[in-house]
Amino acid sequence: MSVDLATIPSSREQCLALDAADPLAAFRAEYTLPANGTYLDGNSLGVLPVRTPEVVRRTVEEEWGKDLITSWNKHSWIDLPYRLGDRIAPLVGAGAGEVVVCDSVSVNLFKLLTAALRLRPGRRTVLGERDSFPTDLYIAEGVTGLFEGGRSVLLPSVDDLDAHLDDDVAVVVLSQVDYRTGRLLDMAAITAKVHRAGALMIWDLCHSAGALPIDLTACEVDFAVGCTYKYLNAGPCAPGFLYAAARHHDTVEQPLTGWFSHAAPFAFESDYRPTQGIGRFLTSFPSLLALAGLRATLEIWDRVDLELVRAKSLALTGLFIEQCRADGLEVVTPGQPELRGSQVAVRHPEAFPVVQALIERGVIGDFRAPDLMRFGFTPLYLSYTEVWDAAQALREVLASGEWRAERFSVRGAVT
Ligand SMILES: Cc1ncc(COP(=O)(O)O)c(C=O)c1O
Repeated sequence: MSVDLATIPSSREQCLALDAADPLAAFRAEYTLPANGTYLDGNSLGVLPVRTPEVVRRTVEEEWGKDLITSWNKHSWIDLPYRLGDRIAPLVGAGAGEVVVCDSVSVNLFKLLTAALRLRPGRRTVLGERDSFPTDLYIAEGVTGLFEGGRSVLLPSVDDLDAHLDDDVAVVVLSQVDYRTGRLLDMAAITAKVHRAGALMIWDLCHSAGALPIDLTACEVDFAVGCTYKYLNAGPCAPGFLYAAARHHDTVEQPLTGWFSHAAPFAFESDYRPTQGIGRFLTSFPSLLALAGLRATLEIWDRVDLELVRAKSLALTGLFIEQCRADGLEVVTPGQPELRGSQVAVRHPEAFPVVQALIERGVIGDFRAPDLMRFGFTPLYLSYTEVWDAAQALREVLASGEWRAERFSVRGAVT
């Protein structure tokens, strides 16, 4: 059977044929996957790459255990935030020296928002979107509180941007892919609009890095933040990354002026002098062991063609959306391919117990309050057939009413 990789399969047989022709199929063997399950939560916490335990073991036992402090030079620990940043750069369309790995998304956003407000003296508003991931909004509120007259304004929707882009707006911060709905924004058009209004643009790439091709350079983006523990599979709470366009490097002043952003950290001078380039955004050194997890996963990403990832992601999400719609479910994620990332959100009044019942069947998705089931699709380790079967499992859980069992309504501290 000849197979068109752009087709959305409408039968299990078609899924089997697509799996047989899948150019990404070989990557699956590089991940540790649930023995009898389908993991549809890689948009929350990515799975463990097979190579990671060995890279972490080497870092612990050989670099730390044997070479001890000489590792800073011998194993070039000191350059890791830069070297790993340069390996993330092609995944987000950045140039060499424009991405650095450090801190968390929230902390990096704090640095960038403060820097952006300082780059636009006289303007005091930070614009965000009310439904963005809350930490971004909380950080914006914290940062604007530090500036006299500073205010954080939350748009009811990104569609209201025009009405709020006045000459007090210093910076706009948005997620490229919405963490709940999976809606994908037009990075080029929005960034251009924000620039026309004289403001700077920060993108949160947590739900897009590793999920689709991104071109920060072509879109003339000023700054971006992203995480490495979702689609990039660096491990739980692995460090974030920060992008700053080279044109801002000489003028930017970030507030967390720790010693690793100093021009000569090992000169131990009493006065602060910022280093040149992206290193200005460092504060202290990220956890070395967490960097080992990132190092391991990037050995896979170095070989990945993101256009293939995007094509398969659209087929997998398209397949899941069509199956859900056929069952009369309310799919919140946009049907148009150019408007969605790599996840599908389905609204259901009993979303929490339905997700728990699915997990018991081995299909691992998650729940986002108040009423969304969220399923992430990661083309490097999912097959078409298992996504077909996952949609079937959801159909069966709903049809049987098995989710009504009391045990599925018990909530842990983390939902
Ligand atoms: C869109 C988005 N931004 C920020 C964060 C939080 O990042 P961190 O805990 O690294 O600060 C998350 C976490 O899931 C997220 O989804």
